Amino acid sequence: MRWRAATRFAVYAGGCLFVIGAGAPLRPAAQSQPPPASAPEATEPASFGIGRPATSAEIAAWDIDVRPDGTGLPPGRATPAEGAPLYAARCAACHGRTGREGPNDILVGRLPGDGFPFGRDPRIRKTIGNYWPYATTLFDYVRRAMPLDDPGSLTDDEVYRLTAYLLFLNQLIPADAVIDAASLPGVMMPARDRFVPDPRGGPGGSLGGSSPR
Ligand code: HEC
Repeated sequence: MRWRAATRFAVYAGGCLFVIGAGAPLRPAAQSQPPPASAPEATEPASFGIGRPATSAEIAAWDIDVRPDGTGLPPGRATPAEGAPLYAARCAACHGRTGREGPNDILVGRLPGDGFPFGRDPRIRKTIGNYWPYATTLFDYVRRAMPLDDPGSLTDDEVYRLTAYLLFLNQLIPADAVIDAASLPGVMMPARDRFVPDPRGGPGGSLGGSSPR
């Protein structure tokens, strides 16, 4: 019953948009009249006459994902020292002076022996150094999501600087390391082997993915 009502509404809304798109005057719904007997039955139009295809430049601006293997990393390079002033200016207010103080997510910290006790104790703070399996996706995340109050405002070089600095603070690369598209995928993260493929799988399986079984 509910479903039927919703369908009728959709058709009605479609008809309305079509009329507006054709340049007819907009009438309040309450005053709308049934169509004259000779008019064709109202059906959903092929197009609502709004929007346009995205340009390839617009798609490119959104198509910025960096894969775990480093596919998609842009040109650029940086050392940790180059990231320090930028971190202080753009990130420290929310993540703390050394990445450990908050008030928002703690970014820096290792666990003794690089253990992985998160399943046993949910209070243990997950950081880049103890939980992230890839350094490449740190670049991806910072570029698309940070700073929280102005995402997308960092240049690729700035993201390389911040990535290098955060990896250094987590004692994952030395102070003089040069981080770029070639070296970043090779940074070995302590949690790298702590994640396993979801057995429910990718394309073709029981949840739309292929099952290894
Ligand atoms: C206005 C506050 C704010 C600023 C500024 C900010 N962040 Fe964040 N950041 C957050 C919040 C809140 C989260 C958690 C977001 C979530 O869980 O969806 C976060 C999450 C993160 C994470 C993921 C942490 C994790 O382990 O899940 C990283 C990495 C990060 N920020 C890096 C940065 C960097 C680098 C900068 C500086 C360019 C920055 N942030 C600036 C508020 C901020």
